[in-house]
Amino acid sequence: MSKDIITITNNRDNKSYEFPILDASVGPSVVDISTFYKETGMFTYDEGYTSTASCQSKITYIDGGAGKLMYRGYDIAYLAKEKTFLDTAYLLLHDDLPSAEQLKAYEGEITKRSFVNEGIKKLFDSFPDQAHPMAILSAGVSALSTFYFDHLEIDDKDEYQEMSNRIVAKIPTLAAFSYRYSNGLPIIYPDMNKGFTENFLNMLRAYPHSYVDLKPIEIKALDTIFTLHADHEQNASTTAVRNLASTMAHPYAAIAAGIGALWGRSHGGANESVIRQLEMIGTVDRVDEFIAKAKDKNDSFRLMGFGHRVYKNFDPRATVLKEIRNELMTELGISSELVAVAEKIEKIALSDEYFIKRGLYPNIDFYSGLILQALKIPKEMFAVIFVIGRTPGWIAQWSELSKQKTVKIARPRQLYTGPTERTPEY
Ligand code: CMC
Repeated sequence: MSKDIITITNNRDNKSYEFPILDASVGPSVVDISTFYKETGMFTYDEGYTSTASCQSKITYIDGGAGKLMYRGYDIAYLAKEKTFLDTAYLLLHDDLPSAEQLKAYEGEITKRSFVNEGIKKLFDSFPDQAHPMAILSAGVSALSTFYFDHLEIDDKDEYQEMSNRIVAKIPTLAAFSYRYSNGLPIIYPDMNKGFTENFLNMLRAYPHSYVDLKPIEIKALDTIFTLHADHEQNASTTAVRNLASTMAHPYAAIAAGIGALWGRSHGGANESVIRQLEMIGTVDRVDEFIAKAKDKNDSFRLMGFGHRVYKNFDPRATVLKEIRNELMTELGISSELVAVAEKIEKIALSDEYFIKRGLYPNIDFYSGLILQALKIPKEMFAVIFVIGRTPGWIAQWSELSKQKTVKIARPRQLYTGPTERTPEY
């Protein structure tokens, strides 16, 4: 840590205050303003936390300018191409990549916990057909704490391990059940002979006594999507999970809060919007018309799947997914009008001055929507897929905060702009 300081002068009374600068291992330094209110009598104001680091973390690093994303120091492209989602989950939860033996043991631990208590089915039975799978999943995860309350001593390493494995293992099962129940379809139980991602696709797409015949590229494509979503430092849903962790809430409650935050269309819902927009455009000959709308300052229309708050040159997750999308489409022989529309939009936008000048490149959602559709996953399940991927990241972030020596409850202050004290009328 450097001993550098930043000096702030209040020109109202000409007083100066000093605050320490803390250095990151890589990336921007921060100004430690934890004593700001005590010293100055003022709060700082940063709506949407655009300039605020809310915690110290060793899990994920993003460099938006360079298009870099690393989990515990490993580049996302390496993890997505060379490792599986469970390797990545292990890395996030145990600080290091597993050896071949450790991975085998971890896969076994996850597989054997993939069934959920039969009682949960009664809860799912009570939801009407067409209930949104995200709503059912959120209720199902909250309900886990009513069935599995024997491991609530999260300070105990073994108990933490049990809880962590249980959540990673059961979320795909609850996710698949959510879809089956919301569509009035028979549920398919986990198959203990299948790997994590293949098992999930089977629970989603199979029928009783008939397995789906999945191509390796289909499993690889979904596994890659899970890996690329596994963590993204202090995004909105992770911040929700950390806020709950700061109150010492139980992890099942914290994960349910993360699901709630992720459901919003500004967060986990964007890839669904990409597909809806491609369907609205419909045919290749209408692309120019919509590109013109996106560039028109008087039109609020935006090209979904383009641009990112943090990545301004390219989204490294999109680069990986573009390759997988191409491979998947070729192997499955998919050449729909929708794909042609997407390819034309991509081509124009990557060479158009408007998009280049503003750093608007295809983001992860531009490609993930098309991949999920090719995997026959319905649109209402897109955010649910995101949840399965993000779960290890949420648990890792929850655990990192919970294991701190002292945990400060998240309690921001405000700039009050309401009425001053009113005189009551008697
Ligand atoms: N289509 C057309 N113009 C755009 C778009 C777009 N998709 N995105 C930004 N712009 C323009 C915007 O009009 C503005 O132009 P000008 O400077 O002339 O006023 C400029 O680019 C900067 O836009 P901004 O809204 O200030 O940028 P932001 O960083 O606040 O917004 C964003 C980022 C992702 C919300 C935005 O690019 C967007 O709405 N994209 C479409 C939705 C989308 O794909 N969302 C998924 C994001 S990835 C999810 C994840 O990582 O979890």
